[in-house]
Amino acid sequence: GGTYDLIVLANRLPVDHAVDENGRPCRRRSPGGLVTALHPIMKRRSGAWIGWHGRPGPAPAPFVHDGIHLHPIALTGDEVDGYYEGQSNGTIWPLYHDAVEQPQFHRVWQDRYRAVNRRFAEAAARVAAPGALVWVHDYHLQLVPGMLRELRPDLRIGFFLHIPFPPVELFCQMPMREEIMRGLLGADLVGFQHPQATRNFRTLAADLLGAKVTDRGIWYDGRDVAADTFPISIDVAEQQRLALDPAVRARAAEIRRELGDPRTIVLAVDRLDYTKGIECRLRAYEELLSERRLDPAQTVLVQVAVPTRQQIDQYQALRERVERAVSRINGEYAGIGRLSVHYVHQSFDRAELAALYLAADVMAVTPLRDGMNLVAKEYVATRTDGTGALVLSEFAGAAAELEEAWQVNPHDIDGLKDGIADAAEADVAEQRRRMDPMRAHLHAHDVNRWATGFMGRLDRLSRRWPRSAAA
Ligand code: UDP
Ligand code: G6P
Repeated sequence: GGTYDLIVLANRLPVDHAVDENGRPCRRRSPGGLVTALHPIMKRRSGAWIGWHGRPGPAPAPFVHDGIHLHPIALTGDEVDGYYEGQSNGTIWPLYHDAVEQPQFHRVWQDRYRAVNRRFAEAAARVAAPGALVWVHDYHLQLVPGMLRELRPDLRIGFFLHIPFPPVELFCQMPMREEIMRGLLGADLVGFQHPQATRNFRTLAADLLGAKVTDRGIWYDGRDVAADTFPISIDVAEQQRLALDPAVRARAAEIRRELGDPRTIVLAVDRLDYTKGIECRLRAYEELLSERRLDPAQTVLVQVAVPTRQQIDQYQALRERVERAVSRINGEYAGIGRLSVHYVHQSFDRAELAALYLAADVMAVTPLRDGMNLVAKEYVATRTDGTGALVLSEFAGAAAELEEAWQVNPHDIDGLKDGIADAAEADVAEQRRRMDPMRAHLHAHDVNRWATGFMGRLDRLSRRWPRSAAA
């Protein structure tokens, strides 16, 4: 065995090995909510993080970043194609998000997915101390718990899925369906974002594998597996610190001026992903301008669209459609020196993002389906004075917690328009009436509580069934 008592496995490390403008190697924060949530947790506990460094080819040597021991996993170009872009993001991602785009099934993708999952499991088995806690994350690594249990029965293994877990009818399209269920059931504890995901998993364990499912857990293959809901969150204290930072506040005021001091700034922040409902939102905004329910001379939409998975066809096609819609709206409603949509295909650092949250009167988070959506939580936590208005899709996991938002069905363009228009018209009293309980909820449910909740549960489970240490 190795030396680490706590190990996180995720497809990506928290930093990418990238190259800067001068061709020198540099480290860039990896995109997405998984890294946002896990980075502060791992900074506080010294542990290891096993993941891909973000480029094809040989892996850099292990290194330390923010006190976390990073162990890069190498992927060949074919593996990036088959495991990451293929099986993970061409099959599982769309299937688990209600098939809002058509999932593709290819046998060679499945083979590479198996091979890479095995590499992650073997890496964890090498560096884990006897009885260590190993926490496996997300849809890229669903076979790892089962593989790791075979290699190291002494370990305590947890799995957390950051995205939705689909209903039986959708899940069963997958050729690897039994294999994936058995892989997940190799864990001691399987965690989900939303109660519906947990229910879907329990139903599948019974229907597909004939597991015995009770209130206590899932009895399968001679072991008890617990499955439960652990909604992920953000580092509220850190978000609040950013919100109160004078430099951030000054930048927020500057952003408002740069946008021409309009009456209403609507903000949207998403990876440029087809699950995020960007097109429905643009359509709703366009109609609101056309009907003058929003005044084109007094309204600006800022759409931050973070580049993501750009090698994949569906993402390239989405980008073209979104950029066409943005130009159409600007063509129709902008003026000289005044845009209706400020579209930025870039990623911002946390301080700039906090300034944008502070500058925005309305935050529009309208995914067609989303595991949680941390952007919604960050907006609420940033608005320390209780102003601001959150429009939130019913189909984001966050909707189960942020009940006081203007909740909308993003497929219903008229409902979406009403949500945005009502949020834009709300007075400060109405804003606070909604924001205060959401802010209180986040203070009581931050990312530390999420991590302690999951790890504490895993710890208690394994103490109930003590195992012998590995040879
Ligand atoms: N984010 C960022 N810079 C940007 C846009 C987004 O750092 O320019 C972060 C954002 O603060 C959030 C994460 O990316 O923490 C996105 O997480 P979310 O759960 O909303 O969506 P995901 O990308 O994981 O689907
Ligand atoms: C979502 C997934 C993460 C993923 C992130 C960014 O949040 O749940 O696992 O890391 O998107 O996507 P990418 O493909 O760039 O890692």
